[in-house]
Amino acid sequence: MMRPEAFLGGAPAVWASAPGRVNLLGEHTDYNEGFMLPLATPQRTEVALAPSEDGRHHAYSSNLDHSLVFGPQTAPGPGFGRYLDGCMRVLAEAGASVPPLRIYVRSRVPLGAGLSSSAALEVATLRALCNWCQFPLDPLRLAQLAQQAEIRFAGVQCGILDQMAASLGDDQHPLLIDARSLAWRPIPLPPASSVIVIDSGVARSLAASHYNQRRGECQQAARLLGVDSLRDVADASLVDQLPEPYRSRARHVLSENARVLAAADGVDAARFGALMNASHASLRDDFAVSHPALDALTSLLRAEPGVYGARLTGAGFGGACVALCAAGQAARTGAQVVAAFNANGGAARVLIPEPQRGDDEPI
Ligand code: GLA
Repeated sequence: MMRPEAFLGGAPAVWASAPGRVNLLGEHTDYNEGFMLPLATPQRTEVALAPSEDGRHHAYSSNLDHSLVFGPQTAPGPGFGRYLDGCMRVLAEAGASVPPLRIYVRSRVPLGAGLSSSAALEVATLRALCNWCQFPLDPLRLAQLAQQAEIRFAGVQCGILDQMAASLGDDQHPLLIDARSLAWRPIPLPPASSVIVIDSGVARSLAASHYNQRRGECQQAARLLGVDSLRDVADASLVDQLPEPYRSRARHVLSENARVLAAADGVDAARFGALMNASHASLRDDFAVSHPALDALTSLLRAEPGVYGARLTGAGFGGACVALCAAGQAARTGAQVVAAFNANGGAARVLIPEPQRGDDEPI
């Protein structure tokens, strides 16, 4: 693993960082112009910049211990370079002049665990580039450019959830986001509660293709209902007349929006937890994005005293679970659930509360 100074040829001229996100409620609603309630992760991705003297970009990921070269005429290939290249291109299109750079990346946001390490990388990269190029962007516009980088250069038709959470969120206050107006406001967590996040250890291998398929199904459901987006369905009973799978997909989106709005209304931890449990059931049964490992983990979490509710978080098909529990019990409960899950051959690990690590230790 190379240190920043070694790769950059001296102290970095610019450092920037951004968090990942854990979505507490509001899954697969963002691309249906609905509501979400994400929290930023305490883990962050850091990006450092220095000038490049040979007219090309040089990038290094300390997590992957991998470096690559790309430039105006050379594509970065698959992997983390696509995100960097995408950010540079969308920023140049927005009017910034991006010179050849050396880019050092390190991340405590776990890669591929469903906490949106990609949005953390995009937002941190854009922050660093804006600073370098003296091209100020407001945080919402920055989130929108990050989303464009992901859609156009990483090939995932994502919504705005991850990038808004990474650009606007903090790890203490969930953000209520309206994906239609792009309005947001922080709300408090329910009193005397804290959050547990556990990575199931199941990689989200087919996530991109299944994700794009679900998105298409929602669009088709809206078309069959004669509306532009599922946000516009005023009479929920119309959904019952749709053929499957559109009926179930639309039912999830409508019920999930209602759960987010109910939770944002200042409910206590028990009610918030019940909404999380209902969200998981809806994602499993109506939206069909759960996985046996996520069902097992959420069951183990719910069986613990002090846990109010648990659900999968992120796109699904693997990745992580989130639970709400009594304040002060998250570390102990998380460790217990992971031990029980792994006793049957699992590879789960607690992500939040963040385990103590050495300063230079990669994820
Ligand atoms: C992924 C996407 C988000 C959102 C979630 C599901 O994280 O990047 O835009 O759609 O899945 O809620």
